[in-house]
Amino acid sequence: MTSAMPDRTSLESAVALACRAPSLHNSQPWRWVVGRFGLSLFSDPDRLLPATDDFGRQMVISCGAALNHLEVAFAAQGWDIEIDRMPARADRELLATVGMFRKREISPDDTRLAEAIKVRRTDRLPFTAPPSWDDITPHLRAVSAQIGISLVVLPERSRTALEDASLRLSGLRGANPIYQAELRWWSGHPDSFPQGVPEEALPSASQRRSVSLARDFPSGTSTSADPVVGHDQAAILLLTTAADSRLDWLRCGEALSAVLLDCASRGLATCPVTHLTEMPATRTLVRDLSSDAGLPQVLIRVGTATHEQTAPTTTPRRPLSEVLFQDRPTPH
Ligand SMILES: Cc1cc2nc3c(=O)[nH]c(=O)nc-3n(C[C@H](O)[C@H](O)[C@H](O)COP(=O)(O)O)c2cc1C
Repeated sequence: MTSAMPDRTSLESAVALACRAPSLHNSQPWRWVVGRFGLSLFSDPDRLLPATDDFGRQMVISCGAALNHLEVAFAAQGWDIEIDRMPARADRELLATVGMFRKREISPDDTRLAEAIKVRRTDRLPFTAPPSWDDITPHLRAVSAQIGISLVVLPERSRTALEDASLRLSGLRGANPIYQAELRWWSGHPDSFPQGVPEEALPSASQRRSVSLARDFPSGTSTSADPVVGHDQAAILLLTTAADSRLDWLRCGEALSAVLLDCASRGLATCPVTHLTEMPATRTLVRDLSSDAGLPQVLIRVGTATHEQTAPTTTPRRPLSEVLFQDRPTPH
């Protein structure tokens, strides 16, 4: 079958949907460039968060999530795409090229996942345990394995150790003014709009205490519909990679997106959690608890939301004109 190219409107609508992907602190560190035969995905070095993500690992994971969202968006339009990952060794910002568009039948799964992009959001409130979890986990493992990434379900007995480590790390980082300044710029800060985590997406002071496995964001205004929700009962997933290469990170972001969308399509609430994988000591602890030889990249809390369906806010995104270009933008 011969390849074609979607028209400009279809391309823009797919990229807009791709930009709904999760990213570290909603930094949206991606740039899309349209070429004659497809699209290129670049990371945006101006959006690196050095105090949190010194090597740009989570920047690439975030771009991987956007790449998977793009694939889902095109599939729902009836396009198969071919992705070339890390196509130019010397160009560290060029993460993927997307081309060879071929028409395909739109399956119910394609539509289900594209719809999930519109409803998925990061929910930082406490969850109750996910229903039918034992039936869902093999499926989530397969979704991730298809992308070459291991998904581990952490045993219930690891919860206390993870929560203790999380609290200790928050204490340590409370004394790090550079990390705190970066966190406060990117979260709960009205001037950062349309990027960053808005205060409506951050739990209120009282609700924060119910979720110990959480980054030390400032308090926000998000509250549960049930004022007496107890301690968080989320299941805890972990994505691991064989190594710490940029390709591993990109693939991990793709798997993160695929898992989050699958959960969202089942009505499950999710929250990626990465503060524990940012420091060597806590990353090692997560690895030991997981009984998986791979390198821990992203933890994911999964459960049933404790608020009304419509409650968690949709976080803003930058306009398309700031992320989609005809030519590659020149560095500042
Ligand atoms: C690599 C990565 C790391 C993240 N780390 C955290 C985290 O540690 N804690 C958290 O609450 N959310 C985390 N998130 C979620 C982002 O804050 C969220 O995706 C962003 O604010 C956009 O909001 P949305 O997911 O609701 O669209 C992370 C997301 C990504 C992709």
